[in-house]
Amino acid sequence: MKQPSVAFDTRREQEARQARVEEVLAGLREDPPRISPIWFYDRRGSLLFEKICELPEYYPTRTELGIMRVHAADMAALLGPRVALVEPGSGASLKTRLLLDALDRPAAYVPVDISGGHLMDAARALRQDYPSLRVEPVCADFTRPFSLPAAPLRATRRRIVYFPGSTIGNFPRDEAIELLARLRGIAGEDGALLLGVDRVKPKAVMERAYDDAAGVTAEFNLNALLHLNRELGTDFDPSAFGHRAPWVAEHSRIEMHLVARRDTTFSLDGESFGLARGDYLLTEYSHKYTLEDATAKAAAAGLTLRRAWSDPNEWFSVLLFEPA
Ligand code: AVI
Repeated sequence: MKQPSVAFDTRREQEARQARVEEVLAGLREDPPRISPIWFYDRRGSLLFEKICELPEYYPTRTELGIMRVHAADMAALLGPRVALVEPGSGASLKTRLLLDALDRPAAYVPVDISGGHLMDAARALRQDYPSLRVEPVCADFTRPFSLPAAPLRATRRRIVYFPGSTIGNFPRDEAIELLARLRGIAGEDGALLLGVDRVKPKAVMERAYDDAAGVTAEFNLNALLHLNRELGTDFDPSAFGHRAPWVAEHSRIEMHLVARRDTTFSLDGESFGLARGDYLLTEYSHKYTLEDATAKAAAAGLTLRRAWSDPNEWFSVLLFEPA
């Protein structure tokens, strides 16, 4: 009985790998060639991201944590008792703890993350620290449809989708609206969405946050090439690339680029590509929002703004939306 199931897994793995190859090839054929930011996040990339969050230049994490410390009680009062919290892309669930501490008898917490190891570690720690909370991790890529465990959600009064960190900013505009609409669907008609958004601010502050003096963000950016080389067998020469993160005002976003320092070639699955010196690979968008912009995007996804909490500089906001 074992044999066919092993063969099936291998075939499934091969199909999944081929699908990833096709996705990467499609991005590399674009102009400018593009690599999805998901390739930042192998084990090393996840550690580099944690380091980024502690950099003096990278204000978003610190600022959002500050907002949660000051306003979590206010948020909890609006959300009500015995809610179920669903968190797509939960990672280490750090900000969540501030919310859980403030909530009135939260009934369930459903962290959703693609990185199984990280997810299980975080779930174990939360179960220990919140014994009366039902913690039901879901290992899934939240950018694609996924199913939620029914039982813990049925027993609760209201479903709250918590999407902090301004991760919404990493999606192109149309995809951001689509994702917001899916999050609205997960929350349901009586639920709510608590969303962290990074605000538009002076250009120098934003550019420094994505090009720090210690070069951690540069390493994080280049790590996508190492990850692709190892995982899919591309042959990028990382020494041929430099990091750049310009503010593109027209689109209200920071773009992360890997710029060719010299003419360079690379290939994937027998297909070859070349970049001339000065050409670049686009690796990430990080959109910054005005409150009006965020509200309009959410409205297009069928959500109405109920409350907004910001830091004194108005660099970051946590927004509470409900179905329109
Ligand atoms: C995960 N995401 C919200 C980060 C951001 O700020 O857009 C990713 C990041 N890229 C470079 N530094 C941090």
